[in-house]
Amino acid sequence: MLSQQELKQQAADAALEIVEQVAGPDVIIGVGTGSTADLFIDGLARFKGRVRGAVASSERSAKRLQAHGLAVFDLNDVDHMPIYVDGADEIDGRLHMIKGGGGAQTREKIVASVADRFICIVDESKLVERLGAFPLPVEVIPMAVAAVSRTLARLGGRPAVRQGFTTDNGNVILDVSGLTIADAPALELEINNIPGVVTCGLFSRPGADLALLATQQGIRRLARP
Ligand code: A5P
Repeated sequence: MLSQQELKQQAADAALEIVEQVAGPDVIIGVGTGSTADLFIDGLARFKGRVRGAVASSERSAKRLQAHGLAVFDLNDVDHMPIYVDGADEIDGRLHMIKGGGGAQTREKIVASVADRFICIVDESKLVERLGAFPLPVEVIPMAVAAVSRTLARLGGRPAVRQGFTTDNGNVILDVSGLTIADAPALELEINNIPGVVTCGLFSRPGADLALLATQQGIRRLARP
């Protein structure tokens, strides 16, 4: 029986096989945030000299990449990435995701938007029938926390300020439990349109292009339907 940590490692290794296919001297890889992304970063170290570098979705990931001697580029200096590789807190069969357990969803969404393909690396515990058991992280401008909380409550959610946490962009995270997520693309749009919301953790417009799901039986590849 493989541990969750071993499953995460398998998922990261499966993504590194894809790096092997796309690697080249001009290639820049988009890199996510979290414990699974950390394992991917550690494996990416062996591509030093075979890829140009990476764009990171958080200060934390940037530091880890640099500690391995990998070049980290500002997204403003990069116009193309073949892949963006990141974990998720939940993913469903349509490859819609909840992300932001690490509070990095804004930069994650921005970096992913520049990449050709979003490759999601998860262990099987992250696969769900319907999104929403994991409280939805919403990044909010500090002055709007109370106003956004009232609106989220009207949508049926129970927002809680993540204590002792500030995002890389200087904002607050509201973790919203109790939401019914029947139509993720519609809810993503609705929450992102609330004044004061920077980015909600729903990734469904679009979701991932490919999920590498590590199971006790090996890697399951789920492509976007
Ligand atoms: C970071 O903000 C998140 O979006 C992560 O991608 C997500 O929380 C998954 O993290 P783990 O790989 O640590 O479970």
